Amino acid sequence: KTLEKGKVTWESPSNIALVKYWGKKKHQIPENPSISFTLNECKTITTLTFTKKESNKDFSFEVYLDGNKEDDFKPKIQTFFERIESYLPFLRDYHFKIETKNTFPHSSGIASSASGMSALALCLMSIEKELSVRLSAVETSFNENLFNQKASFLARLGSGSACRSIEGDLIVWGKTDSIEGSTDLFGVKYPYKVHQNFKNYQDTILLVDKGEKQVSSTVGHNLMHNHPYAQNRFQQAHNNLEKLKPILESGDLNAFVKLVESEALTLHAMMMTSMPYFILMKPNTLEIINKIWRFRQDSGLHISFTLDAGANVHVLYPKNEATQILEFIKSELVAYCQNGHYICDQIGFGANQI
Ligand code: PMV
Repeated sequence: KTLEKGKVTWESPSNIALVKYWGKKKHQIPENPSISFTLNECKTITTLTFTKKESNKDFSFEVYLDGNKEDDFKPKIQTFFERIESYLPFLRDYHFKIETKNTFPHSSGIASSASGMSALALCLMSIEKELSVRLSAVETSFNENLFNQKASFLARLGSGSACRSIEGDLIVWGKTDSIEGSTDLFGVKYPYKVHQNFKNYQDTILLVDKGEKQVSSTVGHNLMHNHPYAQNRFQQAHNNLEKLKPILESGDLNAFVKLVESEALTLHAMMMTSMPYFILMKPNTLEIINKIWRFRQDSGLHISFTLDAGANVHVLYPKNEATQILEFIKSELVAYCQNGHYICDQIGFGANQI
């Protein structure tokens, strides 16, 4: 009945927040609720090979990125294992070989923590499921919903935003009164009506700066402790989620654009007003933003931008405006990208086992 060895593979996507998570408490509990679009093309594919080992004293694992041994990831995974151990008691019983690759270019400035941590959490859940099936010899209570919930719960302990990558297409993380079923512990599918305008929403990611982040998100989240604007910011995130509800229901693209851009700039404003302070936007980030604003005014199209904790710009727009907007992006914006690199993505529906 024991499981001596095995192999499991999951692919899991990245996500882009519309209302941003910035600031956390102990145990990866967010200071404010967030909502994101799950992406479709930017993914991590992880194969986990597990072999039963003699001693269960220590964690034992090795990590490969694109086929090369990658020891830089080990501390993060060690911490992850320590955090999730009490929820996955088998962790010390096996040696794990973690083989991972991303569909987006290496060091593109696109964080792989959301897709990477969610893919690993899902691989571990598959082992957990297999073990529990063997133990009880019947199909256990592991329905898909419970499986996804626990995978998201575990992914959160690897990287907060990773809990929003298990499913799609709109995921809420963080308890807030206006969204029924929302919780700080894992991501949940947005439970209300979403207008056709937001189906197939496009995200073209402009790679402005592919360098290493100057400030890790862990440091950034911690700077929200004792931040002079923290309490107002956290309240604003709750308010923006509430405001987003009628926008998503009615398909009000103009209101959507305003809310999403304001959230992106507020995230960066928090970084600029922390102590120490920092600026993650680059001159080309601002050039792109200004061009987007001018084009929106001239064309009447519903192009908008959002930002993560970096210089890259996510250009968001509805599918039915894609032809004209892509033409604009190629002729006017790509010149500001490092080596002209950009990625065409769109809303996706979550992770898959392969
Ligand atoms: O998941 P973390 O700890 O890397 O935090 C990421 C936070 C932002 O990407 C900046 C915003 C968000 O909600 O995804």
